[in-house]
Amino acid sequence: MAVKSRVWISSIFLALFVFSPVSSVRVEEGAEAKQEDSSVLTLDASNFDEAIAKHPFVVVEFYAPWCGHCKNLAPEYEKAASVLSKHDPPVVLAKVDANDEVNRELATKYEVSGFPTLKIFRNEGKNIQEYKGPRDADGIVEYLKKQVGPASAEVKSSDDVANLINDKKVIIVGIFPEFSGQEFENFMSVADKLRSEYEFIHLSDAKLLPHGDSSVKGPVVRLLKPFDELSVDSQDFNVEALENFIEVASVPIITTFNKDPANHPFVIKFFNSDNSKAMLFVNFSSEQFDALKSKYHEVASAFKGKGISFLIGDLDASQGAFQYFGLKEDDAPLVLIQEHDGTKYFKPTVEPDQIVAWLNDYQEGRLKPFRKSEPIPEVNNEPVKVVVADNLHDVVNSGKNVLLEFYAPWCGHCKKLAPILDEVAVSFEKDTDVVIAKMDATANDIPGDFDVKGYPTIYFSSASGKVMQYEGGRTAEDIINYITENKDSAASSEAPVQSEQEKELKDEL
Ligand SMILES: *[C@@H]1O[C@H](CO)[C@@H](O)[C@H](O)[C@H]1NC(C)=O
Repeated sequence: MAVKSRVWISSIFLALFVFSPVSSVRVEEGAEAKQEDSSVLTLDASNFDEAIAKHPFVVVEFYAPWCGHCKNLAPEYEKAASVLSKHDPPVVLAKVDANDEVNRELATKYEVSGFPTLKIFRNEGKNIQEYKGPRDADGIVEYLKKQVGPASAEVKSSDDVANLINDKKVIIVGIFPEFSGQEFENFMSVADKLRSEYEFIHLSDAKLLPHGDSSVKGPVVRLLKPFDELSVDSQDFNVEALENFIEVASVPIITTFNKDPANHPFVIKFFNSDNSKAMLFVNFSSEQFDALKSKYHEVASAFKGKGISFLIGDLDASQGAFQYFGLKEDDAPLVLIQEHDGTKYFKPTVEPDQIVAWLNDYQEGRLKPFRKSEPIPEVNNEPVKVVVADNLHDVVNSGKNVLLEFYAPWCGHCKKLAPILDEVAVSFEKDTDVVIAKMDATANDIPGDFDVKGYPTIYFSSASGKVMQYEGGRTAEDIINYITENKDSAASSEAPVQSEQEKELKDEL
């Protein structure tokens, strides 16, 4: 479950610039796009398996009609499909409307966690890889041509090498005196496994490399990257060791988050890591930028391998991140740390000479966590009580039976539910042991003990502290019956000490 919610958190964040989270599935709106004369194959639950079995190489886009990133991709995908339809061997581009009820099972089966998700199906679906390429027509074509070819291509001239190596991506070069033997085979099998994520080439002479290096005899694997030390070698050809070498060496000391799509794969990696995440948000055009970045780099290098990953984000690209974390642009430059369980630490208007000290304070546990919360309401006399992050646990642990709705202001199903919850709350008005409450989940951090994947999500916490998600019907009667069946009568025997507090709370609410 921890893994699931991590994916969700990163996809919510990435939604702001790469894809839309699947949880938005519950917002069932949006126009149908009619497609005729398309080079893109339309698949659904009825013909999916057949198509995958028939074509040796199929790319499937799982999309939702309402998703903006999907709409942006559509014309590019179409153009690429048209170019690739003439390619030999054939490359088939297909799409599945994963928002459509009939295709939900497909989306679940292939672990679609955001829109659009693109997957490459080879070999009758026996080999499935995530599409990790660009989102423009030319980029898609170029990337897929490589994917359908050999996992690692032999390169024979220094011009060809120079053409392949650019300053945007990681390239893994195998240098082998001859293309056979265990080392070469291991290299090729790692290339096959990781090919959708990295580009692999091999050559027989290190002289072909830029700044040709004839002292390198091989076999050796050289990872070229557009950041940090630019090039790292490994001679451990054990498959696992090689994969591990690539994973570690391809992560920048500091991940850059700006509008450049070439950086997005690194940003996705950053958010999918189990590490604590430090993020410095600063205007890249501002005067302080260089000084801040240089200090930040100092700390990041010192902390390498100690369980913290570092990202630097440009204000120009970070509006979504600010909204997500509940930050204000006025607070920039700011540094924020988010731990795996969601705990956050925050320092606004950070000066270059404060960064090192602040991160050291963090390392040594001297900082207090930061929580996104609306202010605790002073007046709270509607039937449904307003709960915010700062008093959520007080309310839930108050020794009362609490029905709590997590909602989003824009969510249609939540709006429909509002008068129903009012009715429920009114019907329990005389029962001081029952509280009906709601929290705006977009304006408040949701503590890790609640798993909120869509809106509305409703939890029930009984007076004795049993917490469960409410998954019953959405009528007032359903909810009233549920509360009546599940509520504990005054938990005084379990929590006598709290009774004073309880009374206060009910008054307060
Ligand atoms: C960043 O700084 C530049 C130069 O001072 C300014 O023109 C720009 O508006 C700033 N961007 C943001 C998002 O504050």
